[in-house]
This record gives sequence, structure tokens and C-alpha cells, in this order.
Amino acid sequence: MFKKNVLIISAVFGFSLAIAQQYGGMWIPTELNEKEMKDLGMKISAKDIFNTEKPSIKDAVVQFNGGCTAEIISPKGLLLTNHHCGYDNIQNHSTLENDLLSNGFWAKNMTEELPNPGVTVDFITDIKNVSEQILQGTQNLSGKELNDKINENIEAYKTSQNIQDYQKIVVKPMYYGNQYYAYIIETYKDIRLVGAPPQSIGKFGSDTDNWVWPRHTGDFSMFRIYADKNNKPAEYSKDNVPFTPKYFLPVSVKDKKEDDFTFVFGFPGRTTEYLPAIAVEKIMTEIDPAMISVRDVALKTLDEKMRADDATRIKYASKYASVANYWKKWIGEVEGLEKSDAVEKKKQYEQTLISKNPAIKPTIDELIKKYNEQSPYSLNKAYYSEVVRNAETLTLANAFSGYVQSVEARKMDEKALENLKSRLSGFYKDYDAELDAAVTAKVLSLYANKSQPQFLPQGFEKFKDVNASLQSIENLSKNSVITGRGKLNGATVYSDIDKIFADQNALIQNLKNDPLMQLFGNLKSTYLSTTDEKVTALQLEIDGLQKKFMAQQMETDKNRQFFPDANSTLRVTYGKVKGSNPRDAVFYGYQTFLAGVIEKYIPGDYEFDVPKKLIELYNAKDFGIYKDKTGDVPVAFTATNHTTGGNSGSPTLDADGNLIGLNFDRQWEGTMSDINYDAKLCRNIMVDTKYILFIIDKFANSKWLIDEMKIVK
Ligand code: ARG
Ligand code: GLU
Repeated sequence: MFKKNVLIISAVFGFSLAIAQQYGGMWIPTELNEKEMKDLGMKISAKDIFNTEKPSIKDAVVQFNGGCTAEIISPKGLLLTNHHCGYDNIQNHSTLENDLLSNGFWAKNMTEELPNPGVTVDFITDIKNVSEQILQGTQNLSGKELNDKINENIEAYKTSQNIQDYQKIVVKPMYYGNQYYAYIIETYKDIRLVGAPPQSIGKFGSDTDNWVWPRHTGDFSMFRIYADKNNKPAEYSKDNVPFTPKYFLPVSVKDKKEDDFTFVFGFPGRTTEYLPAIAVEKIMTEIDPAMISVRDVALKTLDEKMRADDATRIKYASKYASVANYWKKWIGEVEGLEKSDAVEKKKQYEQTLISKNPAIKPTIDELIKKYNEQSPYSLNKAYYSEVVRNAETLTLANAFSGYVQSVEARKMDEKALENLKSRLSGFYKDYDAELDAAVTAKVLSLYANKSQPQFLPQGFEKFKDVNASLQSIENLSKNSVITGRGKLNGATVYSDIDKIFADQNALIQNLKNDPLMQLFGNLKSTYLSTTDEKVTALQLEIDGLQKKFMAQQMETDKNRQFFPDANSTLRVTYGKVKGSNPRDAVFYGYQTFLAGVIEKYIPGDYEFDVPKKLIELYNAKDFGIYKDKTGDVPVAFTATNHTTGGNSGSPTLDADGNLIGLNFDRQWEGTMSDINYDAKLCRNIMVDTKYILFIIDKFANSKWLIDEMKIVK
């Protein structure tokens, strides 16, 4: 039976993926499909991956700074993660004279490693299914009552547990609240920067290549965990010592081939694989397009000036990258959902479920009703959130109105004021008020045209005409203190922010009279009164229905192996090294090489420049042990692992549990995998360990780091 299913699926998808992976899979590491993993080629056992009794691979996998994943690759606590995960820290150590982003950074020994206050790594020491305790006494509850009881039970559970003072417990819902899991977490706080390649390697291809295969980015950076003398977590101190891990990953430089078994171990952030067709349809036809349309306008306006003016380009590089990242992902997501016929497939799936279990019909009908009811409000929420996020004037107005409220509520003490001033100074450092006025005017104009009149403040029609909007916002911006162009007591936020805040009464008076502040105030209060409550109330109902729908899917579809949607907890996904056939007559190979970096090289370009030294190494074919059978150095590869945001920096391991790659992206045709995994189109993208070691050894001359590792040849 099993074999037959595999055959049917391989006929459909053109290659063999076993049954549990048909819908993707981000598995809880205590509940692995060991048999299937072994059938696919895994040689180690599930106990080698997760074991609380003795060292196992999980002891080498950490959540990096709350968002990414990282792994330990030496007995001295050496950490590997993505360049884009370490980006802020690399930037923080950079100055104009010593620009680590452009030049890269390599400590020559441990004393040169750079501390990063605030950066943390989290180890998961244990995982428990605590559904019974947490769901106790909740059978007949719903809505707010249910949430309150759950929170009460979670608190009771936490206090009943004996943990060390350096540990904490986090309880997370799975399957939309049908189950609950508890995680024991240990957080280390002294994390030092060890090495990072220059951006022209670590961010090679930048936004043009982002979410795209074939890829040639050396997206890695290295840190080290430090601990106190007892190897326990401690705040930064020069007396701290390199952390001794329970386990570290051996690093492989063996050749790979298509169909090799791989698994990825990390902290995927969020997926929604079990939504009804109606929800997917709304995302695809309403929500994503709305968010994309606002960012289209913002990015285009930024890009024009960034190309024309270097100072602007530098100021907006990081902001642009972050707006562009999800903008591009949503475009890929919509295309992928359309191409994979996701809504129709979901509808058919719902019919199959109903034919087996008629009780599901009322749940789906009710979901359809609620989603339709919520739809205009959700759409307005999407527009409003994106408008405020992309119009920096409105972001500033929001911050200043928070200030006014705090002062009036007598909550603005010395410390809060210092925090606000330092946040604002940081913001103004990378701010171009004229450019912002143009972006703000254009996104407001889009909002005025796209949103239904009942969601807009009175008199907002005047923004419909984009030229009128540009003129009006520019005039207001020119005279406003919050944009830094207007003066208060002779000072601007640039020239003397202390002076601006010193005269509290004058500032508050000024802010209350500022038409930009009033504009934002109107927008926000209109949003709150017309939309916010409605969306939230309906969402609470949808959540209740989704919980029921999830439970019904699980009890009805006995052939399907379910995994809980990603929620930033530790997961394992597995698959095979694979290329793909995303379009008619287009075939992607699974592996890129250094020759491809050279092919993409555009001298002096901010995305595709290549360091001179790398070109020299390439010309001299000075590849050491890091080339493969082709004679070239492998740079990146794709596989069928089911990953999402948060899996950045996750280790990719081979059948023996050796590190073969570092996850950093997905291919564009498969970005809909957060909503609808399609085995034919979905591929994760990893940097090859051969390229990482080649850069460390040959490019950076940092052999001392390689010597710490256990290399598998
Ligand atoms: N797309 C990858 C991820 O979602 C990489 C993002 C960083 N790179 C960039 N060009 N913005 O995080
Ligand atoms: N780049 C993503 C991250 O930062 C991972 C890519 C993805 O979303 O699959 O987590």
C-alpha cells in the first residue's frame, strides 16, 4: 500500500517523495517520522536528533536573537548563521573608516571577537506535550473565557515545574489550540562576532536575486557563545569563557548528488497550511495584492532617488531591503497560489472531507460567512497597516503622538524621554524628509483611491489626485518640526533634539497644531472606529471555527499525517537534494558554482560586484579541498525541505547528521509554501558548506577557525 502511494505520487510529481511529505512537513523533533526518514535515506536515528538523556543534534541548534536559527560547529561554542541574520550586528560595529559591511570582518584570535550587547541565543533543553493540563476545564468555554482559562492553566503549569534559575518555560498552542506544548529554554547572552565576509559575498545579488534561484550568495556569518566559569549563561564579561556545548555539528566537505537525503533543523516562524479555501482566496485576491500595491509605490519612489543620489542610497539601503523582501515574497506567493491552483484544490479537499464527515459542512459554511463578513475590514486593515508602515511621516507622527499622550498621562519620565530621543536620533540619521514627503503623498493617494469611502476620514478625497497630494504633503512637511524641516525655538530635530524636547509646553503646543499630526490623528481614529474592533471581534470567531475545522480535518483525514503550523518553535523538515521544473521547458539544476558568481560579476555594481581576491582565487583555481568532482567550488544548492522565515541560518544535515549547508531562502516559484506546499515547485535554498569553508580558509585566511571544527571528508 505504502509503495503504491509512493508510486502514484511520483507519477504526479515526477519524482519520489514519500507520503508524509506530500504536504510538506515541519515536524516537532520529539515526534519524527523515523521510518519514512530512513526510507528516504537517513542513516542516524530519531534519538540522535533529539534526546534529553544524552547529547544529541538538538544541543547544537539554537534560536538566534529571537528570529533566526544558528548552529554550533566547534567544541568551543563557534556559531554559524546567515549574513542577513547577523547584518545589524555587523553594521553596528561599522564606521565610515572601518566599514565591516563592505570589507568583511575576521577575528584573528578569540581576543579580537566583538561583543554584541542584547544579542541572545536560546537552547531548547526539553519539549513536552502538556495538552491535558492546559486544556483542563475548557471543554465548554469559548472566546475570551476560553483564553482566560487557558492562560490560567499555563501559569499554574509553569509554577508547578521545577526549573533552574537560568531556565524558563514557554507554552505554545499547536493545531490552533487543539494541543499545547511546553518548552524549557536556556538563554545565553554573551555572543561575540567572529567573522563575516564582505557584503559582495554575504549579500551577493542582494534584492535582484533575493527569493530567486539560481543563487550565488555566501549568506553566512560567525559568532561565538561565551559563558561563565561554570559554562552557564551570563551577561557579557571579559572574564567569560568560550561555551562548551553538549554537542556540535561535524562539517562535511563530501560531494553531494541529486536525491541525497537531507534534513533542516530550526525555528520556522509562521505558516498557515490548514486554512479553508475561502481564506486562501482572500489572501490571494485581496490581502496580498493590497499590500503589494502600497509597497510598489513606496519602492518605486525610493528607488528613483536611491539610484540618483548615493547618500540616499546608503541611508535607505537596509529599509529598502526589508520592505522589498516581503513585497517580492508576496508577488511570488500570489503567482504560486494561482499556478498551483491552490483555491480549487482546497475546495476539492473540503468536498472530500465533507463526503467522509458531513459535520464539517456547517464549519466550512460558517467560515465562509465570517470571512466574507470580515473581508472589507481585513482589506482596509491591510491597506492602513502598509500605508502607515511605508509613509515615514506617519510613523513619526505616531511616535510623537505617543509622546503627547505619555506627557498628558504623566507617564513620560526621564528614562522614557531619553529612550525616545535616542530612538528618534537613530531614525533621523537615516532619513530623507523630502523623499519621505513624496512617498507619503503617493501612498496616501493610493489609499484615497483604493479604500472604500466609509473607511476614510472626512475630506480625504483631496488626496485622490496624486499631484495635489504631493503638493499638499510637501507644503506641510516643509514646515513641520517632526520631519526636521520646521524649527522650534530656533532648533530642528537634527541640529539640537535636546533643545526641542527641553521646552515641553512649546513642543506639545506645536505638535497639536501640526497639520501632519492632525492628519495622522484623523486617519488613526477613523481606522480604529471603523475597522479595528470589527476585524478583531470577527477574528476571535474565526479562530474558534478554525480550531474546530483543524480538529475535524485531523479526525477525518486518516491518511494524512498532520504537523502543526510553524510557530517559531523547534522543528525538523526533511527531503532530498533536488532541482526543479518550475515552468514548461525550464529545468533548474540543484547546484550552483563559483563559476556562476563570476558569470554574474558586474564591476562596481552595488549588487553584483565581486571582491578582487575572490576573482584571483577563481582564476588561480586555488580551491584546496573545497572543490567537488567537477573541479569547481559548489556555492548554493536546493532541496525539497519545507522551510519558512525563521529557518534562516538553519543547519542542513545529511543522512549521517553532518552539516552540508546553511538554509537562507526559498525559490520564488515556491514561496506559496507557507500556505500551500507544492512538492513540484517548493525548494529551499542553502549555502554549501564547501563554499563557507572555502571563504573562511582561502579568502579570509582564517584557518584557525577551520582547525576548531571537525571536518568530514
Ligand atoms: N529572502 C530571505 C529571507 O526571507 C533573505 C532576506 C535578506 N536579503 C535581502 N536581500 N533582503 O529572509
Ligand atoms: N530568508 C528567510 C529568513 O530570514 C528564510 C527564507 C524563507 O522564508 O524560507 O528566515
